Order: sequence, then C-alpha cells, then structure tokens
Amino acid sequence: MAKRRVKVAVTGAAGQIGYAILFRIASGQMLGPETEVELQLLELEQALPALKGVAMELEDCAFPLLKNIVLTSDLNTAFKDANYVVCVGSVPRKEGMERSDLLKINGGIFTAQGKAVEKSAASDVKVFVVGNPCNTNALIAMNAAKGIPSDRFFAMTTLDENRAKAQLALKAGVDVSSVKNMTIWGNHSATQYPDFYNALINGKPVTDIITDTEWLKGDFIKTVQQRGAAIIKARGLSSAASAANAAIDGIYNLVHETPAGQTYSMCLASNGEYGVDKGLIFSFPCRTEGGKIKIIEGIKHNEFGQEKFKLTLDELRGERDAVKSLGLI
Ligand code: NAD
Ligand code: LMR
Repeated sequence: MAKRRVKVAVTGAAGQIGYAILFRIASGQMLGPETEVELQLLELEQALPALKGVAMELEDCAFPLLKNIVLTSDLNTAFKDANYVVCVGSVPRKEGMERSDLLKINGGIFTAQGKAVEKSAASDVKVFVVGNPCNTNALIAMNAAKGIPSDRFFAMTTLDENRAKAQLALKAGVDVSSVKNMTIWGNHSATQYPDFYNALINGKPVTDIITDTEWLKGDFIKTVQQRGAAIIKARGLSSAASAANAAIDGIYNLVHETPAGQTYSMCLASNGEYGVDKGLIFSFPCRTEGGKIKIIEGIKHNEFGQEKFKLTLDELRGERDAVKSLGLI
C-alpha cells in the first residue's frame, strides 16, 4: 500500500530541542510507520551552517521514511505546503529583560510566523507551539492567521503531563504507564494546575492509591510546576530531550485515535469550556476521535481545584491583555 507523505516544518531546528526532535520525526515515531516525511527546517541565517551539519546527520541515519530536507531562513519556504508546523524557535528571557520586552520580541516572531502559515502552509495545517511563552505565542500566531480555523493551533503541556505522571508513579511505586488522564489545566508555566484529583492509577482515583494528600497538594504540584526551572538550574540549559520527547508524544496524541476512557493534555483555543474566555489558548483534557480533537467537558473541580484553576486562568488572561495592549492581537 502506498504510504501517505506529509511536510513537517520545524522552526529553530538547529537548537537543542531541534537536535533531539528531528531524528525522531524522521524515524516515524511522531506520525507512525505509514507516513513518509519531508522536513522543512527554519533557522536564523547565522545558524544555517550548524543546521547543515544536522541535515548531514539526518542523511547519515538513512531513515527509510525521510524523503526530503529543506534548509532555509525564509518563512514562506519553510512553511510551503506544510501539513505540520512545529514552532520551537523563540527568544528566551535574558537577564535584565522585562517580560513586556520578551512578549514584544516573540510577538514579532509569532506574528510573522502566523502570517506565513496562512500564506504558505497546506490547507490542513496544524501548528504546534513549543517555544515559550508557548500559550501566548500560539495565541499571537493564531490571531495573525485569521484565515486558518483557530482549532488548528496548539501549545504544549505534554511535558508537564509526562512529568506529573512520572512523579505520581514514583510516589505510588507503580509503572508510569498505569497513570492515566493526568490533566494539566491552564498555562505552561509555574501556575499550571496538575489535576491529581481527576487522574487515575490502574483505573482508580490517585487519591485512593496515594493517601498522602498533603504531598499531592504541596510537593507534587510544586515539583511539576517548577520542574523546568529545576532542570535549567541543574543543567545550565533548559530541558531539551524531554521537551522533544513530549512534542513527539503531543503531536502523536493529536493525530492518533485516543484509547477508550483516556484523555491527554493539550493547550488549544477555548470555545468557552469550563468558563475559559473564548479564544484563550488554555490546557484542557482532550481526546482525538474520528480524527477530530475535542475538549472533554464535565470534569469537576473541588474547592482546591477551583482555586488553582483560577490562578492559571488569571495568568493567561494577563498575558493576553499584555499582548493586546502591545497591539499584537
Ligand atoms: P535553543 O536556544 O537551543 O534553540 C532555539 C533555536 O531557535 C536557535 O537555534 C535559534 O537560532 C532559533 N531561533 C530563534 N529565533 C528564531 C526565529 N525567529 N526563527 C527561526 N529560528 C529561530 O532553545 P531550545 O532549548 O531548543 O528551546 C526552544 C524553545 O522551547 C525555548 O523557548 C524554550 O523555552 C522552549 N521550551 C518549551 C517547553 C515546553 O514544555 N513548552 C519545554 C522546553 C523548552
Ligand atoms: C520547561 O518546562 O522545561 C521549559 O518550558 C523551561 C523553559 O523556560 O525553557
């Protein structure tokens, strides 16, 4: 049977995450063994020589599913007919930089990228934002590409979900694969709410298995919220292999049918679910059914959960208002 062929654009492809993700996309781990891929890699002009080296290594892997590699610093060349655009490149906050400076710089990048997606990408394009602040970067790109349905824009909380699953499994002494429906609500930031109350271990509520509720409400949540910062402190660099792994998992989740009874965490544009402002890019429990991605409604939060939910929602509203006042959306 003829294989399907897709074009996958990756921005910031010569960076740390780029170096970890490209080989896994090319090997078929993201889209499956029946999908051939053409990689369209975007970098800043000055990083193109390093990107050339990455492309040489990709060739040297002789991946049967990898059919073409484009290297470019031109947005429209990178996004031409792309079915998937994985936005990894962004500018991290440097010492002395105000948050508004960061939003302004990334606002410029994601406005231009949104416009180029609208102009050049395939009509079925899905845009998956990893570069931080990923929720608000996705919001900016989505608003710059009004011709593309807003349900094609995503930002990544898969890494937070994986981190939360791992911490719960360690505490309970169970295999990590027995932890399911570990929803991250809200922002990919230190306000995110890793919702252990609605997560399951071997099909049972987490709170039946881990009875140390103080740990769940305290150290567990804090560890997941602060994990990115802890890795930066330990490594001197932000998470890269685990972030790339999460992006592979996240896009895999989007494009494959979700097993019965399960959900995954994904940031996407709200339609008003759970009282989240329409259009805000918020992390919800999701499922892919019949190729369609849907937010799972009806999950209940107790008082503790409602408080945590409001904190992360308020932070995202603040980020949206800040980019609005900068004229970016
Ligand atoms: P990195 O600095 O190693 O690589 C980023 C690359 O992007 C660089 O090679 C740079 O040249 C390129 N770049 C910058 N601006 C660009 C632009 N306008 N167009 C094209 N390329 C551009 O960074 P990294 O470690 O790969 O991380 C990338 C981003 O991912 C960061 O913003 C980081 O904070 C974020 N991140 C997100 C998560 C998450 O869970 N959502 C996790 C880890 C890291
Ligand atoms: C992470 O969660 O590891 C990253 O988002 C941290 C960062 O600021 O790059």
